[in-house]
This record gives sequence, structure tokens and C-alpha cells, in this order.
Amino acid sequence: MAANEPLLPLLERVAELLRGAERIACLTGAGVSAESGVPTFRGVGGLWEGRRPETLATPEAFASDPEEVWRFYLWRRRLLLACKPNPGHCALARLERQKPGFTLITQNVDGLHLQAGSRRVLAVHGDIWIDRCTRCGREARSTGEDLETIPRCGACGALARPGVVWFGEMLPTDVWTQAERAAASCDVMLVVGTSSLVYPAASLADVARAGGATIAEINPEATPVTSQADVAISSPSGQALPAIVDGLGTS
Ligand code: OAD
Repeated sequence: MAANEPLLPLLERVAELLRGAERIACLTGAGVSAESGVPTFRGVGGLWEGRRPETLATPEAFASDPEEVWRFYLWRRRLLLACKPNPGHCALARLERQKPGFTLITQNVDGLHLQAGSRRVLAVHGDIWIDRCTRCGREARSTGEDLETIPRCGACGALARPGVVWFGEMLPTDVWTQAERAAASCDVMLVVGTSSLVYPAASLADVARAGGATIAEINPEATPVTSQADVAISSPSGQALPAIVDGLGTS
């Protein structure tokens, strides 16, 4: 596919693929929330620019300096309070309503897909708004009222941790199993706004391809998936996704 191929026929092609598909899986990453003002991780202005993930997003970092790790996550929660779903999130929520065989898999922890109206979201990297007790495992959803104090467990009083998956940790088994199953059995997989560098989430595109799915990527930058995608749309997802879902019609 030529890099400068005009956009409209590609958008129409993806709409056509989705129209004919019974099972659709969509994998999203930080880029789908970029137009909501949520920083991505990699690249210019990304969260990992000038920060070391191993000091902020690993169990070892939390064990050695929980306050430093919590400062990072509380700051991200404060940023998120000002963010709303964008037209890309809303288009995926519409797609779910139009296509019963649609499964949304996200690496994002920001909750914006749910806010946009998506009902079934497989959040393989967890949820930044959950406080999970480090002693008894009890989970509580932050109200967002106090985003300065390090959360403690409401039941046993022990230190809580953010309910996200850190580097070196297992993904939640049940959610991951459902994600793999959706990828293996889909007719079309949309890969949206992810650098496709972080495993095992990045392997879902390979799982889908191995199962015979057509792969469509939406990302303004090239990724390891781009050259293997059947359709690659070099455009922000907040523009491409609404155009694709509008093109599906109401039938
Ligand atoms: P990255 O920051 O690695 O990649 C974001 C991708 O979004 C890049 O490929 C951008 O080109 C693309 N992008 C930027 N703006 C976009 C837009 N408007 N529309 C569409 N795409 C756009 O984020 P992820 O791939 O999600 O994990 O990162 C994967 C994981 O690495 C995260 O879940 C997080 C991170 O470290 C953990 O914290 C465990």
C-alpha cells in the first residue's frame, strides 16, 4: 500500500469490511485518547519522555518508593478529571451498538471508552481509578475527590496500590483470555492508536492474523503492525473512526 494513498477510499474500505464482518475485535492504545488531551506514553511529550518506566510502573518501584509511584498516578488522575471522550471513543461505542459481535479490547486505563458509552470493555491493563489493597486485595473506586492523599484500604487500613498492570506483572487472566479469544475468532481486527510495542497486548494482532482476520490499523505514525495490515489509515482516530462508522449506515 502506498504511504500517500488517498484517505477516503481507505475509510470506505474499512467500513465495507466492517459491514461484512460478523465478529469484530478492536484493540486500542493511548493514541485513541490523545485527542481527549490524555498524554500517550512514547514519543514527543509522552509520559515516558524524561521518566523511567522502571521507577514508576513496576512492582519493584512501588515496593521501594510507594509515595513516588503514587505521586505519578495521582497526577495522572488529576489530568484525567479534565478529559472527556472524543469522537473516536464515541464512534467505537456506536459500532458496538450496531454490531453485536463487536469486542473492544483496550490497553488504556483511563476509563474513557466506558464514559463514551461502550458497554463491554476488556481493559487488559486495568483501571487507573481503582485502589487495590496491598494486604487484603480489596478494591475500591476512587471518587476523585481527594487526589493528593495516598489511598489506604477502607477495610484493613493497609496501603493501596493503583489497579493497573505494571511491567513484569501478569495481565488479569479472565480479561486476557476473553481478549485472546476475541482476537482469534474475529473476521476483522481494528488496531487503533497503539505503538504495538508492548507485549502481550501487541500479540493480539498476530493472533487475529493467524486466525484469518483482516487487519485494519488507524494511527498517524507507522508501527510494527503497519506493514502487515491489510489497510493502514494514517490519520488521527478521532477523525477516522467517526468517518468509518458513519459510512456503515444504519443497516
Ligand atoms: P504508546 O504511547 O506507546 O503509543 C501511542 C500510539 O498512538 C503511537 O503509535 C502514536 O502514533 C499513536 N497516536 C498518537 N496520536 C494519535 C491519534 N490522535 N489517533 C490515533 N493514534 C494516535 O501507547 P500504547 O501503545 O497504548 O502500559 O502503549 C502501550 C502500553 O505501554 C500502555 O498501556 C502502557 C505503556 O507503558 C503500561 O503502563 C503497563
